[in-house]
Amino acid sequence: MTPPDNLGSPGSVPGKVTTHSLTEMKQAGERIAALTAYDFLMAQALDQSGIDVILVGDSAAMVVQGRHTTVPVTMEQMLYHAQVVAKGVQRALVVGDLPFMSYQVNPDEALRNAARMVKEALVEAVKVEGGCMIAPTVKRLVDVGIPVMGHLGLTPQSIHKFGTYKVRATELEEAKQLRLDALALQDAGAFAVVVEKVPADLATSLAKELEVPVIGIGAGPGCDGQILVSHDMLGLYTKFHPRFVRRYAELGESMREAFGEYIKDVQSGSFPNQDESY
Ligand code: KIV
Repeated sequence: MTPPDNLGSPGSVPGKVTTHSLTEMKQAGERIAALTAYDFLMAQALDQSGIDVILVGDSAAMVVQGRHTTVPVTMEQMLYHAQVVAKGVQRALVVGDLPFMSYQVNPDEALRNAARMVKEALVEAVKVEGGCMIAPTVKRLVDVGIPVMGHLGLTPQSIHKFGTYKVRATELEEAKQLRLDALALQDAGAFAVVVEKVPADLATSLAKELEVPVIGIGAGPGCDGQILVSHDMLGLYTKFHPRFVRRYAELGESMREAFGEYIKDVQSGSFPNQDESY
């Protein structure tokens, strides 16, 4: 059955964000707002706030599982996070990160894992890290109907190769390669490219050159959109505070205060009171 034209995608709500509407936003000069989520309630709150894109990031490894890098998170764990996020979202575009080694071995394996994300977790797109090298895989996924978001610059799945989280593509050669990587992703059919921790001028020129939206994280104001890790901007994950993270709340502090109050009330016997008892 064909859905009516005013709906973004089958079964969706009016105003549903799709890969297509993100391109339209870029063309209209409207900035795209994206954040990460890993569970139902966070996803629901983001969607109700009007966020455009929700990424089920492999940053789950760090901010949910307490790992040191994004490398250890598994396909099964990412599927679980993606499933519960997708359940809480009506309007935003939900993108599922493919974890390290779920797509690098060969395009067939990548396709099987990306298809699981779309079929079992009901995300609408997947994200992969890498440029020219991964472009044939991106094309394979896009050819069968799975939209792909690219990720360049600081690519955390390669942290052991780089050995540092410092700004990427500050040297001319690396900047030239990043541009070629972005063009390769676009040619392969990627609908958007995330660029992480690169000089603002480079990201601005990429956003001007590419037809698909460039979503920045630590890449300055000239991108077509911005993404942050929700746990960073909410002050929940405080292990690092890179300068590109603006803190919009201090929820970690609020939680510790609330837990402390509760503990005091239990210890003093003031909780529960009569109104809180049957
Ligand atoms: O995993 C993640 O949260 C990400 C964003 C930082 C873009 O890849």
